[in-house]
Amino acid sequence: MLLVVSRHCSLTRILARYRPLADSSSHPESDRPIVPPLNGLAERQSGPTNKAAERNSMRTIAVMNQKGGVGKTTSSVNIAAGLASRGKKVLLIDLDPQGHASIHLGIEAVDDMPTIYDVFAQRKSLAEVRQMVSPQLWVAPSNIDLAAAEMELVDSPVREIVLRESLKQLTQDEPFDYVVMDCPPSLGVLTINALTAAREVFIPVQPHFFALQGLSKLFSTTALVSRRLNRDLRVTGILFCLYETGTRLANDVCDDLADFLTRSEPEAPWFGAKLFETRIRRNIKLAESPSFGQSIFAYAPKCPGAADYLALVDEVIAMEEKLPAVEPTVDAQELEPLLAAA
Ligand SMILES: Nc1ncnc2c1ncn2[C@@H]1O[C@H](COP(=O)(O)OP(=O)(O)OP(=O)(O)O)[C@@H](O)[C@H]1O
Ligand SMILES: [Mg+2]
Repeated sequence: MLLVVSRHCSLTRILARYRPLADSSSHPESDRPIVPPLNGLAERQSGPTNKAAERNSMRTIAVMNQKGGVGKTTSSVNIAAGLASRGKKVLLIDLDPQGHASIHLGIEAVDDMPTIYDVFAQRKSLAEVRQMVSPQLWVAPSNIDLAAAEMELVDSPVREIVLRESLKQLTQDEPFDYVVMDCPPSLGVLTINALTAAREVFIPVQPHFFALQGLSKLFSTTALVSRRLNRDLRVTGILFCLYETGTRLANDVCDDLADFLTRSEPEAPWFGAKLFETRIRRNIKLAESPSFGQSIFAYAPKCPGAADYLALVDEVIAMEEKLPAVEPTVDAQELEPLLAAA
């Protein structure tokens, strides 16, 4: 009991660090512009009608948590594979220099294989980089080269929007139903690119006390990107991974998070986020499948891990009905006055 009380007090303090989106005056750090004046890439825009239609029909999801080992890659890969198995056309973008999502699906990006690094280096388009790995499922692979992108982009005036512009180019010619982005365990420029390209954020969380500590920073980064670069961005799903069924701590953490979400301000980008009913239980087959280069559905389709991810995928598809209509994305031209006002 004592443990629960002290954990609860600390958790309440942690969650209380979130600021309402409108409260920018008390947030001098986050008021710093994070994107310099734009040119070049950003000006290659489609017309507003096309763009709105494209954004309404295609779901773009960044799977993000700067905490390591919480199930981002396992979830990105198996959500993408599960959606493909349900007949959706899916692109999985591996944004982690560790290349785990690529390896998980059997792609080891060696030698001259084009990777997502080439997209950030503006040497290749996404269409030249993505590869089909199974029916309905494409992967834009990554490898350690991507680690250089963070440094190389430092002085680029378009560093936060490279991915969004490449994705826009690709999907104009070749629409996808879903684009899933596996983010690295950091809040650097690669994750910011994912948040700028995405309309939705899914946050995998491991339901123990320390796993929640980073949520404050993660939520405020989402709010900042939503305010400065991507007004459409919403945290739409929170997913419990590596779930230990029947433990009191896991249940308490889930309840606290649910309580926090219901009490959040309507302006916050995480307002209305769904705590997925499906919880991904610990299952050894999920840990084994990457070494066979297979999704859980190919590796062990009858195991509890496959059942959990398929149930999750059905929840994700069911959300399609409820997603709000989207305002057109912030244009490069609109960003200038936004930044001037900062
Ligand atoms: N439900 C699960 N049951 C058992 N093992 C799991 C489960 N989910 C993930 N794992 C294993 O836990 C480890 C971390 O998972 P994963 O790589 O998906 O996390 P991550 O958040 O992407 O990590 P990183 O921050 O390093 O990118 C991996 O070895 C993975 O196979
Ligand atoms: Mg990962």
